Amino acid sequence: MTKFYELTTAQRLDYLQEKGYLTVADRQLLQSSPALPEEIASHLVENQIGSFPLPLGLANHFLIDGQAYLVPLATEEPSVIAAASNAAGRISRSGGFHTQVQREGIIGQIVFKGELAQAEEFLQTQESLLYQVARQAHPSLWEHGGGVRQITVQNLPQFVEFQLLIDPGEAMGANVVNTIVEAVAQVLKRQLPDLEFLLAILSNSAPQMLAQAQVQVKLEELQTATMTGLEVAQRIAAASQLAQVSPVRAATHNKGIMNGIEALVLATGNDTRSVSAAIYAGLDQGGALSTWKLTDQGLQGKISLHLPLGSLGGAISTLPVAQLVRKILQKPTAQQLMGIVAAVGLASNLAALRALVTQGIQAGHMNLQFQSLAMMAGAKATEIDAVVAKLRQEPKQANLARTQEILSKLRQESEEI
Ligand code: MEV
Repeated sequence: MTKFYELTTAQRLDYLQEKGYLTVADRQLLQSSPALPEEIASHLVENQIGSFPLPLGLANHFLIDGQAYLVPLATEEPSVIAAASNAAGRISRSGGFHTQVQREGIIGQIVFKGELAQAEEFLQTQESLLYQVARQAHPSLWEHGGGVRQITVQNLPQFVEFQLLIDPGEAMGANVVNTIVEAVAQVLKRQLPDLEFLLAILSNSAPQMLAQAQVQVKLEELQTATMTGLEVAQRIAAASQLAQVSPVRAATHNKGIMNGIEALVLATGNDTRSVSAAIYAGLDQGGALSTWKLTDQGLQGKISLHLPLGSLGGAISTLPVAQLVRKILQKPTAQQLMGIVAAVGLASNLAALRALVTQGIQAGHMNLQFQSLAMMAGAKATEIDAVVAKLRQEPKQANLARTQEILSKLRQESEEI
């Protein structure tokens, strides 16, 4: 029998329809993704049957290192884009985001079981050969200014670990690093016949891919109808301190930051899992990714993240919408993109904290939640506003069943007219 992966996309859909997994309408839904042609999608993953669209929106008001940006975000969470734009506006009117980025390389690991006596001396005798093998494994990387920057070795309990620090150029680096460490591992295997080779792979710990952003928000930008800017700033600083001492709170503080980060990383076609793994690997146990404190100039916010990002290669170059996103971002280098992502994380964080320490998070989310409920209840685009208006009159009763009732009543009324 033909295997599933050997079928074309259309044959896979035939099969799923025959077996009752899909209706004709489901099939049409899967096939209506003009932004990602099937010939690209089917070459990106195995067993492809469709694509999974998410809303793409623009966060505005970003002024980063003196340059204005429109920031495309791909997310299903209703409040992320509005929140990031709102905070970015307050920050930009206070002078904007200032970023600092180090992009020195990605670590590749080659590990043997056992112990290597005089490991440093061994490495010294092999080093030039290892550099040469690495270069032959991926010559174009050197042509583009990247390459191996450092090789180290250490004995761990029961293991010998070689680490290669590899500058991936403009790529994110996973393929480059894996190609190089596998080639170098072949040589090391021959030179170390008494040790058992275990694995060679890139590490998602990326301390040498460090992006920092800093802002200084004017107090008047923070005030609300009922609280002065100073009060809000003091309360945000207290919430930041709480995240330093309460791991339970830090997890949510960081989630608010990741709301913007993941949405931008995804929109650019970068690897969201790799970025999350690197960011959390760089955190102290239970720590917060950002800090806010009151200074003479206002509320100072800082964020520091390990961000293994690229500006080309893989899905970044093949996904048509990721290419479009890159254009909207004015084609940033990988280094610039790291700064933009850090800025978006800090804006998302400020928006969440300001809402939390003033009116609470639900009030701001209410309208967007009502819109979601209206859509879940089946409201058409032309009906959503009317359903939301009704839900706002009775917010405590807002659930799916009530929304469906409201919608059918509105439809009845419009028929009667
Ligand atoms: C919700 O997606 C994110 C927040 O919980 C973040 C925070 O609490 O800081 C609002």
